[in-house]
Amino acid sequence: MNVVIAGGHGQIALRLSRLLAARGDTVLSVIRNTAHAGEVRATGAGPVVCDLETAPVEEVTDVVTGADAVVFAAGAGPGSGAARKDTVDRAASVLLADAAERAGVRDFVQISAMGADDPPAPGRDEVWAAYIRAKGEAEDDLRARDGLDWLILRPGRLTGDPGTGLVELAAPPIGRGEVTRDDVAAVIVALLDARGVRRRTLDLLNGGTPIAGAVAALD
Ligand SMILES: NC(=O)c1ccc[n+]([C@@H]2O[C@H](COP(=O)([O-])OP(=O)(O)OC[C@H]3O[C@@H](n4cnc5c(N)ncnc54)[C@H](OP(=O)(O)O)[C@@H]3O)[C@@H](O)[C@H]2O)c1
Repeated sequence: MNVVIAGGHGQIALRLSRLLAARGDTVLSVIRNTAHAGEVRATGAGPVVCDLETAPVEEVTDVVTGADAVVFAAGAGPGSGAARKDTVDRAASVLLADAAERAGVRDFVQISAMGADDPPAPGRDEVWAAYIRAKGEAEDDLRARDGLDWLILRPGRLTGDPGTGLVELAAPPIGRGEVTRDDVAAVIVALLDARGVRRRTLDLLNGGTPIAGAVAALD
């Protein structure tokens, strides 16, 4: 499989590219900082520099052309303000989806966030509200597209703990909790293979079901 990962130097993205490259898939990782190229190459992926907040759709279309699937793993990240939640978490996802459609790449997996279609809880700050709004609007954009076989994956709170291989993966709501980035990456690999599981929104937490079984149960 040829997979393009947007936000290729992200913590989930690096784990995902390692897993895909190790089993022989071809991975192109979209980064915005040339200094990250070596670390991305070390996972087995090929880096391509493209800033998804400034690139024209034609450039992104060129990047994704020939891919079997694209994964949106970018995010403005902690420490960013409300404006970049909109330009990355919403607008870069929309840009990637536009590019995928233009390139005829149907499979689109988006890493979103649990609760993305809930109104922001009272008492959360303005940046959190902007983040949840951006994730929700990026999800809505995908759901409205007929040209993509989209899949929205909403992990709970991410941790850097070692993967467990055990998850809870189902349509929301499944409650709140944590999930390791290792397990998120492994679930994305399994979902890329499960071509019948598309046009769905799935919550993800660590749980009690082996990943293969959790994905098989969705088919
Ligand atoms: N933290 C949580 O508990 C939590 C929970 C649920 C979902 N999520 C979501 O899960 C996703 C992945 O999480 P993660 O921890 O792997 O994220 P991460 O490590 O912050 O990675 C995000 C990547 O996006 C890249 N990026 C930012 N702006 C970009 C741009 N303009 N063009 C291209 N790439 C750009 C960043 O590049 P640079 O390295 O150059 O900045 C970074 O490598 C994020 O969307 C996050 O919001 C997080």
